[in-house]
Amino acid sequence: MSHFPPSFLDEVMARSDIVEIIGRHVELKKSGTNLMGLCPFHHEKSPSFSVSPDKQLYYCFGCGKGGGVFQFLMEHDGYSFPEAVEYLAEKSGLEIPQDSERKPGDEARQQQAFDMLDRASDAMSRALHGEQGGKAREYLKNRGLPAAIIRDYRLGYTPAGYGFMNKVFGSDARTNSQLEAVGLLFKGDHGYGDRFRDRLMFTICDRRGRVVGFGGRVLGEGEPKYLNSPETRWFHKSSLLYGFSEHRDSIRKTKQLVIVEGYMDVLALAAHGLKIGLAPLGTAIGEAQIREIFRLCDSPVFAFDGDRAGRQAAWRALDRMLPLLKAELTPRFLYLPEGEDPDSLLKAKGGEAFQQRIDEDSKPVLETWLTGLKLLAGQGADGRARMAKKADAMLATMTDNYLQQAWRQEVEQATGISLQQGRQRPALRPNELQSKQQSELNHVQERFLAGLLQRPARFHSLPDIAAGFFVDKDGINLIYSRAFSMQADAEDDNTDIARQLAQEFPDYQTMISRWVNQATVQDIEYKSLVLDMEANDIRRRMKRGLNLDESVRLQKRLSVLQQQQRQLSEQLSDTGA
Ligand code: GTP
Ligand code: MN
Repeated sequence: MSHFPPSFLDEVMARSDIVEIIGRHVELKKSGTNLMGLCPFHHEKSPSFSVSPDKQLYYCFGCGKGGGVFQFLMEHDGYSFPEAVEYLAEKSGLEIPQDSERKPGDEARQQQAFDMLDRASDAMSRALHGEQGGKAREYLKNRGLPAAIIRDYRLGYTPAGYGFMNKVFGSDARTNSQLEAVGLLFKGDHGYGDRFRDRLMFTICDRRGRVVGFGGRVLGEGEPKYLNSPETRWFHKSSLLYGFSEHRDSIRKTKQLVIVEGYMDVLALAAHGLKIGLAPLGTAIGEAQIREIFRLCDSPVFAFDGDRAGRQAAWRALDRMLPLLKAELTPRFLYLPEGEDPDSLLKAKGGEAFQQRIDEDSKPVLETWLTGLKLLAGQGADGRARMAKKADAMLATMTDNYLQQAWRQEVEQATGISLQQGRQRPALRPNELQSKQQSELNHVQERFLAGLLQRPARFHSLPDIAAGFFVDKDGINLIYSRAFSMQADAEDDNTDIARQLAQEFPDYQTMISRWVNQATVQDIEYKSLVLDMEANDIRRRMKRGLNLDESVRLQKRLSVLQQQQRQLSEQLSDTGA
């Protein structure tokens, strides 16, 4: 999965503090050995999100999300795994090791590319404010963009003619080929040339705020109206969103997000105090972008033009969204009056009016879907049949079964046609798989495992028979036996066991986090759990039909266990617990 050596990952983890990383987003309060707060992954009024400082794992008992520090940066902040590792390594001053998968010098080359793009952005903004930028400044003035927005969003200008980039960076062969690699120069029959000429420039950043590309608008009329950087190693149009790094925090804070069509719309919103806009880069919105959007916000509003093209774009977005929809998500769709975009509406009516439109005129995704289906299918009995058919096909792409059923019922009601049953269910996705494994653990097993991982020294005092407690549960058994051998090697309480396990078994990270974060298993409960585990194990074996001797022996052992169990409960009531 990763190209980082395990010892390096250990070091990164050891030097980072999950409480600090999570604490930036969640107010955490001490509760026993753990910290509790409001879950940043779902909306809740009372805290069910727990962080274990000594195990460095988090778990939400409300929505089931859990993991370690890498997981949090990935799930919450939208980092990829390598990005999360690099971010934490950098933060704690660790050198990132090179290995065979990464060509030596790769890292340095990448850094050079980012530096170059950043410097290019600065040069463009200098040009905007310089001698040649008069026309562009005039244009921005006419469009009403305030100076603060022009500065913060790094707008710029590229002069007409060729040679601007070479003037900034030099023109040796190496520089030219670097400039080509980052998309600022193209190579034609007569050598290199500037890609962007006489254009108003929009700086485009990745999720971490690094400049990765540009969009350039013609001043006045001309073709193409917008020119973007070409796809490069760092600039992927299908997964980037304009405004993401600038607006992530305020979207999280206000729980508001509007997806608009153009760069200018994002900036106009920001100029009106609404730092909640994101836009795709001139292409139709795709699944990767929708995934990012849902990571940021449960209830994004997709704003489209009210004309035919806008309705088509909305329908396409809705279609892409279906596999990602869950009952917990409430996206909405907003159609603007024909010929208007957020930019023009804001200019005409102001921020408050626009906010009101978002709140009052946007429609839930289900309503948008049903309206779209009706429009598509047309009138009459055959229209209803077409609607049912189309709906059935679209429903099949949904992965949240509950939502799918609810939507199916809506279509059945609207058409009077019962949709085909028994469509094949999509294969289990990893998180469904995990919840299946979770449900396979009964309460005693769950608490027993929690008790062990919370205090790994308990492994030492387990009876021999305990080695077989989970033989019929493949995955759990693997973790359980691994924990055994890890603890056997350790002298005392090896508090790092849970961390190490979570790292070795990424598929089980959530479950392991749940074990260490749940209510502490005190000694007296733990003792009783061990007795229960053994008793259950014996009952399971007795069912298999044994010879008489064996059966008598087990029966005896069972009554001993029951006897001990009774003593424990007496002890419990004595202490008043
Ligand atoms: P203004 O006319 O400056 O207000 O821009 P706009 O954002 O309103 O433009 P429009 O609605 O025409 O386009 C919306 C978005 O589509 C733009 O922000 C661009 O990202 C993209 N786009 C528009 N025209 C072109 C084009 O000719 N080529 C490419 N690649 N993208 C375009
Ligand atoms: Mn516009």
